[in-house]
Amino acid sequence: MKNQEAIEKRRTFGIISHPDAGKTTLTEKLLLFGGAIQTAGAVKNNKIKKSATSDFMEIEKQRGISVATSVMAFEYNGKQINILDTPGHKDFAEDTFRTLTAVDSVILVIDCANGVEEQTRKLMEVCRMRKTPVIIFINKMDRDGKDPFELLDELEQSLDIHVRPLTWPIGMGDRFQGVYNIYQKSLNLFSANKTKISDDVVSISDINDLALNEIVGEKPAEELREELETIEGVYDAFSRDAYLAGDVAPVFFGSAVNNFGVKELLDTFCEVSPSPRGRETDKRMVEPGDDQFSGFVFKIHANLDPKHRDRIAFLRVVSGKFERNTFYQHVRLAKKLKFPNPTSFMAQDKSVIDEAFPGDVVGLYDTGNFKIGDTLTGGEVMMYKGIPSFSPEIFQELENLDPLKSKQLEKGIRQLIDEGVAQLFVQQPGNRKIVGTVGQLQFEVINYRLIHEYGANCRFVPRNYFKACWITTDNNEQLQSFMRAKSNYLATDKDDNIVFLAETPFLLQMAEQDYPELVFHKTSEFKLELS
Ligand code: G4P
Repeated sequence: MKNQEAIEKRRTFGIISHPDAGKTTLTEKLLLFGGAIQTAGAVKNNKIKKSATSDFMEIEKQRGISVATSVMAFEYNGKQINILDTPGHKDFAEDTFRTLTAVDSVILVIDCANGVEEQTRKLMEVCRMRKTPVIIFINKMDRDGKDPFELLDELEQSLDIHVRPLTWPIGMGDRFQGVYNIYQKSLNLFSANKTKISDDVVSISDINDLALNEIVGEKPAEELREELETIEGVYDAFSRDAYLAGDVAPVFFGSAVNNFGVKELLDTFCEVSPSPRGRETDKRMVEPGDDQFSGFVFKIHANLDPKHRDRIAFLRVVSGKFERNTFYQHVRLAKKLKFPNPTSFMAQDKSVIDEAFPGDVVGLYDTGNFKIGDTLTGGEVMMYKGIPSFSPEIFQELENLDPLKSKQLEKGIRQLIDEGVAQLFVQQPGNRKIVGTVGQLQFEVINYRLIHEYGANCRFVPRNYFKACWITTDNNEQLQSFMRAKSNYLATDKDDNIVFLAETPFLLQMAEQDYPELVFHKTSEFKLELS
């Protein structure tokens, strides 16, 4: 296939949501549409259940399953759709942030009763920082929820994005009758059905047509007309350019579990969502149509079998064509590598591939060469930007309980950090290791893996930090004075950047006041800020 043809065909995106809003269910319905799976329930197992807080084996098992479904690909309406899976569990939010660097757009699922929830807000901040185009699916309309206009206001206010409804619900909960497709001027009537795709679509070319009263009843028809009038008055007409710029999110209503509203979503997604986009490197902007291959690693997955220490690095192809058994430049290590068994991860199936195009994700078997964020190229020396680290929320000091196993512990923790399981901050004197994560679950995973995979013996001691802040400044004198005053609270990250470990919001604020020329960043990607 020609590169350009392959690029235009591909749509690579992620589905994000607060846990339980319906991400897994929607993913599954999209796969059913695409014929990638035949039965409902196939994706369900991928979910790390909320109860799995201390059951390591369960976590590992779940992580294993998620490898197989890391990329779900299918063809629909002439497009190749690549869905990149994001972990639902909040303790793995950092994984999700990184996966968001590898997608070109996202679908955000909202529960109509809960509206915008904490996890939604955080994930959307990352999308807003990167100007990722977003489509919103308001789910569970078969249940009573918030008023649709109230939901739209909430989305605009708390997510800092303009919205534009493209479908509109007629009632909700017990009174839910279906959605009116504003874009196509048709009515899709609801029937609860978990296995079949709703095909009860009536074309309503004129909303004032009295036939509408007969179909949905006089009162709901009148309400719908009024609501549509309000929508046209309040919201600007849908602009694809504004959507692609990340300024406006089109909104759909439906019920994923009932297969309802999903087709409208998918059809519009195919029509408006972006084909693979370019990415910025430290040298230049790389476009998907560039001849030479390049890509970056956004996720690393350890082998579940402790006897085999190999890992799988997930590489997003950005430009050119990736080919099997061809030497590529590993830029950070300045060495050439070739890959005899690059793998694609299609729904249930794992298969060796010969080539991959921009927008595709390739699984590379790795024996320790890769770190998250690494760049592979056809020879050019350049590094992709934009796999940021965010300030962790929980900090614990790693204590070695067996001095004879220091080497194993050192190696193990470094490798786990390369995989992105947690962040490591080293404090002097004494080379003290502070491990930072977004959730408690990671400490359990790390402890378990250090013991079982590396034979190390350690424990974690809680440290009371509130945030890790990366520092930049043009005023070296002020930096030196800060470093003298705060030496007990300084550490270095994996790339030797200086990090300030602030104990409380107040102490951070004080530091900002006392040292006005220092900038304290809560992400390692200094140009992008996450509050
Ligand atoms: P998540 O991945 O975002 O965490 O959510 P998931 O799809 O697992 O959905 C969470 C729960 O919401 C599931 O119920 C699912 O069946 C339900 N759900 C999803 N879409 C809809 C919808 O349109 N309407 C209604 N009423 N429910 C919906 P569960 O009880 O946790 O699991 P299960 O026993 O149904 O599998």
